[in-house]
Amino acid sequence: MTQRRLFVTTALPYANGKFHIGHIMEYIQADIWVRFQKMRGHEVHFVCADDAHGAPIMIAAEKAGQTPQQFVAGIAAGRKPYLDGFHIDFDNWHSTDGPENHELAGQIYQDLKRAGLIETRTIEQFFDPDKAMFLPDRFIKGQCPKCGAKDQYGDNCESCGAVYAPTELKQPYSALSGATPVLKSSEHFFFKLSDPRCIDFLKQWTTSGAVQPEVLNKITEWIAPGDDGKPKMGDWDISRDAPYFGIEIPDAPGKYFYVWLDAPIGYLASLKNLFAKTGRNYEAFMADPAVEQVHFIGKDIITFHTLFWPAMLHFSGRKVPSAVHVHGFLTVNNGEKMSKSRGTGLDPLKYLGLGMNPEWLRYYLAAKLNAKNEDVDFNADDFLLRVNADLVGKFVNIVSRSAGFITKRFGGQLTQDFDPAGAALLQTLAAASEPIAGLYDQREYGKATREIMALADQVNAYVDQNKPWELAKDATHNERLHQVCSVLINAFAVLSRYLAPVLPTLAREVEKLTGLTLASWHDAGPVRAIAPYQHLMQRVTPEQLEALFEAPTPEQPSQAAEKLDSDPNLPPGGEAIAPTITIDDFAKIDLRIARIVQCEAVEGSTKLLRLTLDVGEGRMRNVFSGIASMYKPADLQGKLTVMVANLAPRKMKFGLSEGMVLAASHADEKAQPGIYVLEPWPGAQPGMRIH
Ligand code: MSP
Ligand code: ZN
Repeated sequence: MTQRRLFVTTALPYANGKFHIGHIMEYIQADIWVRFQKMRGHEVHFVCADDAHGAPIMIAAEKAGQTPQQFVAGIAAGRKPYLDGFHIDFDNWHSTDGPENHELAGQIYQDLKRAGLIETRTIEQFFDPDKAMFLPDRFIKGQCPKCGAKDQYGDNCESCGAVYAPTELKQPYSALSGATPVLKSSEHFFFKLSDPRCIDFLKQWTTSGAVQPEVLNKITEWIAPGDDGKPKMGDWDISRDAPYFGIEIPDAPGKYFYVWLDAPIGYLASLKNLFAKTGRNYEAFMADPAVEQVHFIGKDIITFHTLFWPAMLHFSGRKVPSAVHVHGFLTVNNGEKMSKSRGTGLDPLKYLGLGMNPEWLRYYLAAKLNAKNEDVDFNADDFLLRVNADLVGKFVNIVSRSAGFITKRFGGQLTQDFDPAGAALLQTLAAASEPIAGLYDQREYGKATREIMALADQVNAYVDQNKPWELAKDATHNERLHQVCSVLINAFAVLSRYLAPVLPTLAREVEKLTGLTLASWHDAGPVRAIAPYQHLMQRVTPEQLEALFEAPTPEQPSQAAEKLDSDPNLPPGGEAIAPTITIDDFAKIDLRIARIVQCEAVEGSTKLLRLTLDVGEGRMRNVFSGIASMYKPADLQGKLTVMVANLAPRKMKFGLSEGMVLAASHADEKAQPGIYVLEPWPGAQPGMRIH
């Protein structure tokens, strides 16, 4: 097998907050892959960095009374306990504000300019006269131009879903100072992504096998020509005016690179920094066509990594990514989006603080991950079951049922003379090596762990057939006992090696126990003797999980909600019953049973789901619904629901919405969160009207 040369990254987290469990999932996914590749003997450099720049970080630093550099350093200082705690083994952690990144960003920009892909244009933007700065869209608020809702953001209305330019807001104000912004023009730099050369390159790169099929579908929407013959993807505004925390554009004083320009360059900067520290040649490595550049990212940042970033690299004459592996989002306990205020989030440090084993989480996530960008739900009951029944019950149990006999009865020595069934079992285990390796390489960790647990089942069947505890009762069966327990220890060592990318600490313990080296994927040879056995892994307890999800705040939202509900002075559901209408008024609303033929997440929105509805019209309706916090697409697909079928279609940021599905919620969203979709009783058919 030829040795692969791999440069692997995870997305660079914004340096404005602590890690949450979603970050940890991404790192664990990549870490498993990297550990596996290293076990295969490949050369791997696994790096990450803090994404330090941008307006939000600058503003957060100011609020904290710090310079952006101090602020970012404070965040960076808190990273280690998470990474060490979950056994995430980056070879380097750097910062996009490091000198390597400043230098590389300048060079890449100059190269793109030479390629004729940079141009300047004058654009008009809102400017905060008090703060003397241009306002990013999310720092401009005002009244929605369509429905008049107050305190809406600069780009879309959360109340009616309208999409508009910040300049269309009524009574706009700066979220930073409260001042009324003024329009001011300024020169901006653009990367000409719509240039035919870029489009041609992207068509070629995106179909070269670098992205998953479901990701390719999304990208195709962006680069395919629209009605006007031009791609949906326009040129990219890559500059921001001072004051900005970022990298100054060469020969353009007061102009800075937009954070997303220099952020991915931070991958290269971190590698360069690592190579400088370890005395390697960065330029030679990156010039080697055999080097594979592999990025692990979440589904919310696909466009940056599959359009902008490859184009930047290609047209600056650099190596382009070999693969961008996109994962879905982690949700906690039945798809409820993680929320600190609701106490439903899974706080990674709290998990560790409770003494919960990090390898339980690594195993659990591995068991749920596949090569697609599907969301993954952390479910407490499921976690308990998989850890206790599979990991401990099926796997660790193999050694805890056999090691004691070897130590007590045979002085720790194993026999190499196996019974035929035992030898055949070990043969089966050895034969699974390459198929399991293939699954790891393809990021099909769920399949890999299932495969390994199926092997553990076979080992346990051998235990049950031979019953070592029975054999131990009668000294005439000594030799059989020795054989059976020796087979079991060997089987356990093989399975430990197969699980080593997921359970690195356990693998180290098994090395100490067996004297084998499990750092390589190759057959580690037979176990000759074992050290005295100490328990390798505890079971998780329901109490631990309860404590993990206990809300940190004194009053839990559910209690607050109960209070609201039971108070007779408050209106039902938090709002007064609407004024009386006649039956004719009601008849104007055409409610129909609809089948949710398809349901999918909406790229770029954490709130909306896109539903394809069949109301029996012989065509499908496209409807957006703000229920993503409550339901996973798979929960709804195929179900029946109720929709308003004669609502005027509405153009939303993500497309046309042709109706509305009915859902219940409390008027006070904060006190009583949750939105519940209606479902008819059995028998209702798509198209039936609700009278
Ligand atoms: N700074 C940018 C990335 C720049 S890469 C050159 C960024 N940072 S982030 O902190 O918001 O996200 C970092 C990574 O965490 C992204 O890949 C993102 O998809 C991932 N996740 C954020 N929330 C997540 C979940 N709930 N679940 C899984 N991954 C999630 O984006
Ligand atoms: Zn509105």
